[in-house]
Amino acid sequence: MNPIDFLAQYYDSRSKAFKILVEHGKLVANKALAAARRVPGLKPDLELIETAAMLHDIGIFLTNSPGFGCYGKHPYICHGILGSELLKGKEHPELALVCERHVGVGISIEDIQRHNLPLPNRDLIPVSIEEQIVCYADKFFSKNGNSQPSEKTIADIIDSLRRYGPDKVQRFKSWVQMFE
Ligand SMILES: [Fe+2]
Repeated sequence: MNPIDFLAQYYDSRSKAFKILVEHGKLVANKALAAARRVPGLKPDLELIETAAMLHDIGIFLTNSPGFGCYGKHPYICHGILGSELLKGKEHPELALVCERHVGVGISIEDIQRHNLPLPNRDLIPVSIEEQIVCYADKFFSKNGNSQPSEKTIADIIDSLRRYGPDKVQRFKSWVQMFE
């Protein structure tokens, strides 16, 4: 599947959101492929990683995110699950799982219930090596329609994860161990 063509089914290819998604997707794909090459023993599927990295944020157009030129009705935190629903419907179950499990370092059912998040009552945490790699790589790049995107440092990412709890920091650190 060509991810750019797939995105263009949902986005005007001249729109701000499309430009942000393609730029962000390429950065995440490069980072993810580099991480994947460091764990050859785990046999990550490079084609799946590249496609998933390009499509993991496809759900943002359904969210209310004016900064990205998106005026949907859902809160931003739902973009993973919304993307998952789009991809599941197209019979791309592995891609759908990357979408719904990439937000933050993954969101547990306990987090969802404790904070009453508008998400399904199940764990949304990366499981397969491809899901873990795309989620990991995504943390290095914020989507930003205005300024030149730059890669965050590991220390910055860890700092920003602290407020979500030590388990989140720990999960990210375990990925650093695996992929750096
Ligand atoms: Fe995302």
